[in-house]
Amino acid sequence: MRIYMIFTLALCLFLPFGCKNPSQVADYTIQKSIIAKNAVVSTAHPLASEIGLQVVKDGGNAIDAAIAVQFALAVVYPVAGNIGGGGFLTYRSGDGKISVCLDFREKAPAKAHRDMYLDAEGNVLSGKSTDGHLAAGVPGSVDGCWQMFQKYSKLKNWKRLLEPAVLLAENGFCITQSEADGLNEYRAGFVKNNTTPCVFVKKDTLAKWKKGDLLQQKDLAVTLRAIRDRGRDGFYKGKVATLLAAEMKRGGGLINEEDLANYQAIWREPLRGNYRGHEIISMPPPSSGGIALFQLLGMVEPFDFGHYGFHSPEHIHLFVEAERRVYADRAKHLGDADFYQVPVHELLDSQYILRRFSNFDPSKATPSSAIEAGVFARKESPQTTHFSIVDTKGNAAAVTTTLNAGYGSMTVVGGAGFLLNNEMDDFSAKPGVPNLYGALGGEANAIQAGKRPLSSMTPTIVTKDGQLYMVLGTPGGTTIITSVFQVLTNVVDFKMSMTEATHAPRFHSQWSPDEVYLEKNAASAETREKLKKMGHKVAGWPEIGQFESIMRRKDGKLEGVADKRAKDDSVSGY
Ligand code: DON
Repeated sequence: MRIYMIFTLALCLFLPFGCKNPSQVADYTIQKSIIAKNAVVSTAHPLASEIGLQVVKDGGNAIDAAIAVQFALAVVYPVAGNIGGGGFLTYRSGDGKISVCLDFREKAPAKAHRDMYLDAEGNVLSGKSTDGHLAAGVPGSVDGCWQMFQKYSKLKNWKRLLEPAVLLAENGFCITQSEADGLNEYRAGFVKNNTTPCVFVKKDTLAKWKKGDLLQQKDLAVTLRAIRDRGRDGFYKGKVATLLAAEMKRGGGLINEEDLANYQAIWREPLRGNYRGHEIISMPPPSSGGIALFQLLGMVEPFDFGHYGFHSPEHIHLFVEAERRVYADRAKHLGDADFYQVPVHELLDSQYILRRFSNFDPSKATPSSAIEAGVFARKESPQTTHFSIVDTKGNAAAVTTTLNAGYGSMTVVGGAGFLLNNEMDDFSAKPGVPNLYGALGGEANAIQAGKRPLSSMTPTIVTKDGQLYMVLGTPGGTTIITSVFQVLTNVVDFKMSMTEATHAPRFHSQWSPDEVYLEKNAASAETREKLKKMGHKVAGWPEIGQFESIMRRKDGKLEGVADKRAKDDSVSGY
């Protein structure tokens, strides 16, 4: 086993940051990259990665590990890990006989309706779809884990999978600098959006969170115990459901006990396509991820861009022009296919994809207004989380899960201790009005009772010659799709290792606004100038994505990577 980069936080090793109880000492070793023979777990938090790996070492498979990781992240990574949100799984068994997706996306409550975020004049009420009770969709994560367990668990020991999360919530854990920063940044939001005192705000109102502080979540521990002991019913029925419904009543939200009892995660047929001899397996609607990824790959495949030079003006121009067309399609045609007739077949038709790109001009940007118009508003820092797992049998799980924005709606269910999502903002509140990610939508993604909001989450598995090759995914709102597109093509076309492909700088464009966002170091000054001359509007973006990836190398070993962009993301393996 070789470790490329190790950042040892040694958080409480010498107890310098105020941890009081040595039994809660967490010596966080952050590994950004690993080569392992047997199994790899890459997540947004070192404790979650270790918990997942231990499950595999104890004889669990990738699904068992995914369940344990999902619950652990709900405790140690409250900014995005969750039981009050939702997500998607893409799973492939090591022998290739099973390839499935699980949709545990949140649903609009039964009382939700199309104009629920509009005032009497038809204008969008600012903040209603993002902050507080009304922003929450019916959570799907617990039923998602329960369904995964019923169908594919090897350990068949639900309690074992929940126990690490219960202990972390009950006994507490030492927070990292990033988590302390997050909790301090969102303090005002927690105060504003809660009807009972919440554990994320220190009792001493002026005190700030510091690295190494112990975060204990006693209410959450009670909820997790209920789930541990009663499975999905521990969350969707009984005390927890009653507390959630009461919280909604107090705060003017819509979710009631019936919404909870009725929630069902749905197994879906994955989208499968080919790119330069690789099979890509990805998420269908209600995610836009799979369709958009296949369209992007289809548009650029005829071009030998691997020889253009990485992030040369020609490479960036080609990708941006494809993205412009694909995101215009996303805004118009994509939504929950159970409620709106999404033309999946037509959008993925190879002739359509080629035709759509036939007016590509290699020397000039097509203004987005020539395709369709839109406006952009990027308001706050969003959060989601992705984890990738490969077990000893080559079974692979790619899971992207979210509360939507950082700490979701910032609303904790009183007495039950978990944060609720603000996924309702992923619907189109009104045609032409952008959501948190600047995404536009219309009829296809209008709010309707029981409907799932359109997502960009793209948990993806790639195979080659019938063997597992890559496990990919990231948070990042609408940038998720273009990040997966880039990491995949970095490996296939630019022949990078997974470590290089994941850490390489990224760029993003999404038709509306008509801009190209470049990470620092994503393009030289000369390339930026050339792009401007071609007619592109170029802007900076601090960091795009938080990618967790795994690749099976030619020698059969697994290369696991945790994005260096985020301090705490860490990969474990053996
Ligand atoms: O489902 C979606 O596409 C969004 N709710 C994801 C949000 C996200 O990735 C925020 N992350 N940084």
